[in-house]
Amino acid sequence: MRLAIYPGSFDPVTNGHLDIVQRAALIFDQVRVAVGVNPSKVPLFDVAERLAFLEEVCAPFPNVRVDKFTGLLVKYALAHKACAVVKGLRAISDFEYEFQQAQMNRRISPEIDTLFVMTSTEYSYLSSSVVKEIVRYGGSVAGLVPDVVEQALRAKLKPDLS
Ligand code: PNS
Repeated sequence: MRLAIYPGSFDPVTNGHLDIVQRAALIFDQVRVAVGVNPSKVPLFDVAERLAFLEEVCAPFPNVRVDKFTGLLVKYALAHKACAVVKGLRAISDFEYEFQQAQMNRRISPEIDTLFVMTSTEYSYLSSSVVKEIVRYGGSVAGLVPDVVEQALRAKLKPDLS
């Protein structure tokens, strides 16, 4: 059984993340979407909210599970006997950070490899941060995030329409 971990902050999950989930689920027997809990970051949505969105939007994929982790990603991956970490790669700007993370993770745990899935073109400019900013200033993010997330963003950010 080949298990891959798809880690991220998912604050909140976007359709770009879901695209990666869907494609990883075709490649691996099991995919575990893992929300990294980082105490030094102040997220918009707390861990329980992020997990709830992910549970709902990943429900159609029978081989995808949702979880959270603290500490080192590779330790979590080893504990679950994963063979790989999956990351989405949007553009050159993602590369340097992701390259460093992947190399360091491999140095710590050579048995876990990182596989990059190139983001689909329509999501290449999409990020959780951009989505939050658009909603904060009253713009529409329809088609960029799941409906449940769009509603939650509107409720939480109470867009400034002035
Ligand atoms: O969506 P993000 O913010 O790019 O996700 C980042 C995440 C959670 C994948 C990353 O911060 C992470 O792996 N955190 C766990 C701590 C860790 O293992 N760091 C890597 C050491 S090189």
